[in-house]
Amino acid sequence: MKKEREILEELKKYRGMDLKYEDGRILGSMCTKPHPISRKILEMFLDTNLGDPGLFPGTKMLEEEVIRMIGEMLHNRNPFGYIISGGTEANITAMRVVKKIGKGRKRDIYILIPETAHFSFEKAREMMDLNYRTIPLDKRYIMDVKYLKDYIEDNRGKIDGIVAIAGSTELGTVDNILEISKIAREHNIYIHVDGAFGGFVIPFLEEKYKLEGYNYNFDFSLDNVFSITVDPHKMGLAPIPAGGIVFRDISFKRYLDVEAPYLTETSQATLLGTRTGIGVAATWAIMKHLGAEGYREIVSQCMENTYYLVKRMKEYSFESVIDPVLNIVAIKDDNPLDTSLKLRERGWYLSTCRCVEALRVVVMPHVKREHIDRFIETLAQCKKR
Ligand SMILES: Cc1ncc(COP(=O)(O)O)c(C=O)c1O
Repeated sequence: MKKEREILEELKKYRGMDLKYEDGRILGSMCTKPHPISRKILEMFLDTNLGDPGLFPGTKMLEEEVIRMIGEMLHNRNPFGYIISGGTEANITAMRVVKKIGKGRKRDIYILIPETAHFSFEKAREMMDLNYRTIPLDKRYIMDVKYLKDYIEDNRGKIDGIVAIAGSTELGTVDNILEISKIAREHNIYIHVDGAFGGFVIPFLEEKYKLEGYNYNFDFSLDNVFSITVDPHKMGLAPIPAGGIVFRDISFKRYLDVEAPYLTETSQATLLGTRTGIGVAATWAIMKHLGAEGYREIVSQCMENTYYLVKRMKEYSFESVIDPVLNIVAIKDDNPLDTSLKLRERGWYLSTCRCVEALRVVVMPHVKREHIDRFIETLAQCKKR
């Protein structure tokens, strides 16, 4: 038997191999150092299990309150949803609902998704035998609304759902959900918005950071938006795991419920059974603690640093693919994979885009100006500029 002290020493060794957000070298992650208040909560809620909410009624109340707060942030006074493991589970959950509703129509399920959709939708497709039709992007790298409209008109009555993105993984783009909503209403089609990243950014984005002629509306104020993925463990600053799925109202629960004979409740709606309440309590605490003003400050700081990155890029003739919509910058590169490997050798971790030849930097709260300065100099060395 090993002594606790020895075990902790050994664990420290492993943990020491990990990268640290505060070093500012993690430039490709949508997660960040959780808000410091999380530490105490981890301990307090360590043994909570929302898979059996009758045993943890207090934590369940917190979850309902968090969903209510997120609902309010997304212009919905009557929301229903869960704080779950992440954006992947949230998107799969929404696809379960689209499939169930569509099944009533007794034909194959067809869902329209943009080229920018996160790969979690591919997992949902495999699991549920869904049929997707990929909608191309327009020159701003958002879903081509004209193509979408024509496609739906050519396939009247055959489309079950549309996925729209509010904060795409690669470029941070926001689909024109206002226009998509008008089309969906006319044809009675369900819209699921993947706001895993943008959900905790756009509501706090000051007007001065919004691009002209760009539509940032994405929430329940738009017709036919019936569900939204919004992840506290990304820009919400909550510790992992804390993803969010929010539906327009409780009527969507019946599409998710499965009989649960041995629990304190007779049914279960979430994909995961046993699930921790840590994310719920932490999200509740951070949202209460920061409030809209706190999040606004964090988002503003990330946007300022995003513009700073673009400015520093220009000094070395690096170009961004688009003017940043949110706090993500895609840097044009003729060989992004090779450049990202060279950067990794020098200790910088960032990823590449699929939809365009570019490197991608997510300017999360842990990315500061001094990190940007050092990063740009290293990038310039790698590209011999
Ligand atoms: C837009 C979007 N949706 C969903 C996900 C999946 O989230 P998670 O990794 O928390 O499952 C991501 C992850 O980066 C994302 O960017």
